[in-house]
Amino acid sequence: MHEDPDHAALAGDLARIVGPDHVLADPALRAGYETDWTGRHRGQALLVVRPATSAEVGAVLRACAAHAVGVVPQGGNTGLVAGATPAGEVVLSTTRIDQLGPVDELAGAVTVGAGATLEAVQAHTAPSGLTPAVDLAARGSATIGGMVATDAGGIHVVRHGSMRRQILGIEAVLADGTCVGRVDGPARDSAGIHLPSILAGSEGTLAVVTRVRLRLVPAWRFRVTALVAYDGIDAAVAATATLRRRLPDLDAIELVDEASLALVGEHGRLPAPFRDGSPATLLVETAADRSTVDDLASALDGLAGTRDALLADDGPGRRRLWAFREDLTEAIAAGGVPHKLDVGLPLARLGSFVGALGPLVGGIDPSARLFVFGHLAEGNLHVNVLGPAPDDDRVDDAVLELVVEHGGAISAEHGIGRAKARWLSRARSAGELAIQAAIKHALDPGGLLNPGVLDPAGQHGEGIERPGPDGH
Ligand code: FAD
Ligand code: MLT
Ligand code: ZN
Repeated sequence: MHEDPDHAALAGDLARIVGPDHVLADPALRAGYETDWTGRHRGQALLVVRPATSAEVGAVLRACAAHAVGVVPQGGNTGLVAGATPAGEVVLSTTRIDQLGPVDELAGAVTVGAGATLEAVQAHTAPSGLTPAVDLAARGSATIGGMVATDAGGIHVVRHGSMRRQILGIEAVLADGTCVGRVDGPARDSAGIHLPSILAGSEGTLAVVTRVRLRLVPAWRFRVTALVAYDGIDAAVAATATLRRRLPDLDAIELVDEASLALVGEHGRLPAPFRDGSPATLLVETAADRSTVDDLASALDGLAGTRDALLADDGPGRRRLWAFREDLTEAIAAGGVPHKLDVGLPLARLGSFVGALGPLVGGIDPSARLFVFGHLAEGNLHVNVLGPAPDDDRVDDAVLELVVEHGGAISAEHGIGRAKARWLSRARSAGELAIQAAIKHALDPGGLLNPGVLDPAGQHGEGIERPGPDGH
């Protein structure tokens, strides 16, 4: 099975821990774990190992440390920055750690295994009238552990914040196999350093998250959705600020630019929503235990730059409107291997940033297609480009440079992974990077966990390939 006797010995050790069926060495079985969701980053795993419990995770990490082999934690592999793509390490897949604990209605919380998918947790908590606060389109595959590790955001951040705000308790296994944290404590615990805050957004570089106690929020009975056409990005930004003030039940406010609206419509064969087009579209949703149709309609009324608006408060009608936002990632991926930039801008400079994007991208590659959408309340834009070859970084670099010039963030919710690692030193000061390195060294002195990820010296990671212009 393995030419290298040490690797064969590691495979044997791992099989004794998790059972031979859960150590994957066959290239065909490994393949799905080796390429990222976009298909832009391809690596190789020495092995894939699938532990089912925290104790097994500890034993796996000790075995890998003994063989001096790095470990890449992986959940649903829906991440968009190649953070779970191996470059010769062992992939530790968490998908069997998917236990769902009883819903604690008194505390409004549930404890789940890190490998449980968001959708499984949503279905599990639904009968109690409660739901996890964070929601995103990858819910069918994205795991709670992956969402914690990336500090995932999604469509309700405007109301509830990102994953880090949802963690009431955490259990994780350090690189040396030590299990730390607790998931049975009270909701508030300020006795010293807050472990969830250290692990949220750590992208698998500090520990393997194994269990999470999640805050739940009401699954509101009434939702009203509006799709609103604006004259341009500035009008949409101004409307966002006003709607946040006017709507206490605001649950989502999402931007879709003209090119994205056209693409998603074409892809899903959806009828054009607005007769006179829409340079900038907002999807606005309110949710409460009473109907908010009138609140939403009057809040939207009279906002400068509004061209048209569609409203729905029934399931099928709302789904039709959401399709213009939620199906975008799939629609773009269907058009080729996307260059995905996930950036944050100060709202005051967002219009100028968006205005500069088209000429910038077109100047580098006149045939490139640009799509801009995202979570407007946080100034979190997803800048997607189709056309340039996967291994051509010129557009990526130029967009990130523009972000830095506008005082923005090079990642607002997807993280850094391997894909953006070489940009980290432009986004964080030397002092901040020194703190990050010190924390890494304290928790993982051997550098076993996710080498190359969040590493400012990283260059897409040794051993990561990106297809050339012909896609191979
Ligand atoms: P993976 O992709 O498997 O891993 C992501 C990172 O977390 C890696 O660095 C990995 O090493 C680490 N990791 C995974 N599990 C663990 C663990 N148990 N312990 C320690 N480290 C771990 N993201 C958003 O923030 N908002 C969105 O709205 C959003 N929408 C999306 C829509 C689509 C269609 C797709 C494909 C992706 C979307 N994403 C979004 C990105 C992605 O879903 C999130 O980053 C998600 O949190 C990744 O979860 P995962 O289980 O797939 O993690
Ligand atoms: C989204 O908001 O749809 C996601 O973060 C996914 C993406 O950026 O494509
Ligand atoms: Zn997003």
